[in-house]
Amino acid sequence: MPTVSVSILNSRTNKPSSKENLAFELDESEIIYDGLDRQGLKLPAGCLAGSCGTCKINVISGIENCSSISSVEQDTIDHISADYKEKHGDNCLDNKNLRLACRAKVKGPISIETFKI
Ligand code: FES
Repeated sequence: MPTVSVSILNSRTNKPSSKENLAFELDESEIIYDGLDRQGLKLPAGCLAGSCGTCKINVISGIENCSSISSVEQDTIDHISADYKEKHGDNCLDNKNLRLACRAKVKGPISIETFKI
């Protein structure tokens, strides 16, 4: 069973909150959002269809253990990055492995962080 370690970042500071380092076991190829929700961790979400970007996460390690990215998910991530760059003039998201928790599935251990931009 893949393990997902989750760091919940403070929504104002994007620094780890007191809830950091939670760990969950997900079923093989389970959607990250669904697996965490099933175990009581509700990530921010909107559409649950890969189009709003509310459920974005940064995969800190184990990106190779995530499912391949669909065109819908990639389009949404591209929009998130473009919006951020337009608002802030740079793109600190270039160094992150953004995925959408409502679309990405896990095949092995990963560590993720939630954040707000
Ligand atoms: S909840 Fe909308 S993209 Fe995941």
